Amino acid sequence: MAAPLHFLLLLPLPFFSLFLAPAFSSGQKEPKVPALYVFGDSTADVGNNNYLPGNNAKANFPHNGIDFPFSRPTGRFSNGYNGIDFLARHVGFKRSPPPFLSLASNMSHDIMRGVKGTNFASGGSGILDSTGSTNSTISMTKQIQYFSTVRSQLTRRLAIEQIDELFSKSLFIISSGGNDIFAYFSQNRFPNVTERQNFISSLITKYGDHLKELYALGGRKFGIVNVPPLGCCPYPRSLNPTGGCLEMLNELTQEFNGALKVLMNDVSSTLAGMKYSIGSSNAVVMNIVNNPGTLGFQETKTACCGFGKFNGESGCTPNATVCSDRRRYLFWDLLHPTHATAKIFGLAVYSGPEQFASPINFKKLVEDYN
Ligand SMILES: *[C@@H]1O[C@H](CO)[C@@H](O)[C@H](O)[C@H]1NC(C)=O
Ligand SMILES: *[C@@H]1O[C@H](CO)[C@@H](O)[C@H](O)[C@H]1NC(C)=O
Ligand SMILES: *[C@@H]1O[C@H](CO)[C@@H](O)[C@H](O)[C@H]1NC(C)=O
Ligand SMILES: *[C@@H]1O[C@H](CO)[C@@H](O)[C@H](O)[C@H]1NC(C)=O
Repeated sequence: MAAPLHFLLLLPLPFFSLFLAPAFSSGQKEPKVPALYVFGDSTADVGNNNYLPGNNAKANFPHNGIDFPFSRPTGRFSNGYNGIDFLARHVGFKRSPPPFLSLASNMSHDIMRGVKGTNFASGGSGILDSTGSTNSTISMTKQIQYFSTVRSQLTRRLAIEQIDELFSKSLFIISSGGNDIFAYFSQNRFPNVTERQNFISSLITKYGDHLKELYALGGRKFGIVNVPPLGCCPYPRSLNPTGGCLEMLNELTQEFNGALKVLMNDVSSTLAGMKYSIGSSNAVVMNIVNNPGTLGFQETKTACCGFGKFNGESGCTPNATVCSDRRRYLFWDLLHPTHATAKIFGLAVYSGPEQFASPINFKKLVEDYN
């Protein structure tokens, strides 16, 4: 597998030193876009799943949130913020917009937040509707339907031209694909090349459909987050007798990410006015795995919170073991990064070089005011 090399070490010093800066100065400025609309899975969910009946994709209990303001579990799969929160901070917001389902019961509030942004992401969901159990996750199709209802509600307050202007200047973030790959892998441990290509192309076709729908609803600026090296998460490692990364999962991830690049290039060249950046969650995680010490990390295999081998055999529940030095861990739980990792992700994707965000970074995307 073609792992990204020591990119962070090659960065010019001023950029690199930002990673080590203790304080975060963004978050106070005027936001660079009017609103953020967020779609995807548990890498982006900030609490939608708290409102669902099913029980298998939730994080609204300790030790989750232990480093969030007031040590509050919010439904984020993290000890603190997730990567979307950090991206939102760089754009000038306090953190991710609130979960759609927390607003859905309050029409007037909902309309207000529709103007500032909404987070539709749902842990366990994928690009395919078949990924994730129906009563514990919101599929991507459903997330886009919810966005469409926000648009309809806005028509009661704003003229169509105003809504078009609002949406065309806003940032649409999508972070999805990992759960589809996990679901496929759990059914197909040894797929051959043809089978893999068929699977990836089914994912990419569906991803393209979602993008076209969001474009039709008014989205123009897309911040796409690719899939990290899934095989190196504590859960897959716990399944591997050698304790190494599960290479088949990493290969599927690389193939998906490669096809996603081609898709974005194709779609943006056919849809007028569409702009995008692909943030490489994959490059960020591989860099931490390859250069932990340089970035202030000590532990890149074992999760901070969980049970069993690598703390990867089950999730972060109130009775799980939890580490004390959380800034030194790459992974928070069996599948998700820590606040410390998310912070580096946010910085690298927002303002980093092409290895971390291409063809432009998120900063260029949101500072383009056309
Ligand atoms: C959710 O679905 C699971 C099976 O996927 C089922 O066991 C459970 O009873 C369902 N819960 C609710 C509240 O519908
Ligand atoms: C609905 O949202 C509005 C605007 O934020 C807020 O003032 C109001 O208290 C909310 N109502 C309920 C019932 O939560
Ligand atoms: C891959 O597996 C399929 C069966 O799922 C088989 O029909 C096909 O010939 C195989 N292709 C290769 C290149 O081995
Ligand atoms: C931890 O708590 C969960 C319920 O939250 C329970 O299912 C599990 O058995 C407990 N594990 C241990 C090791 O006590």
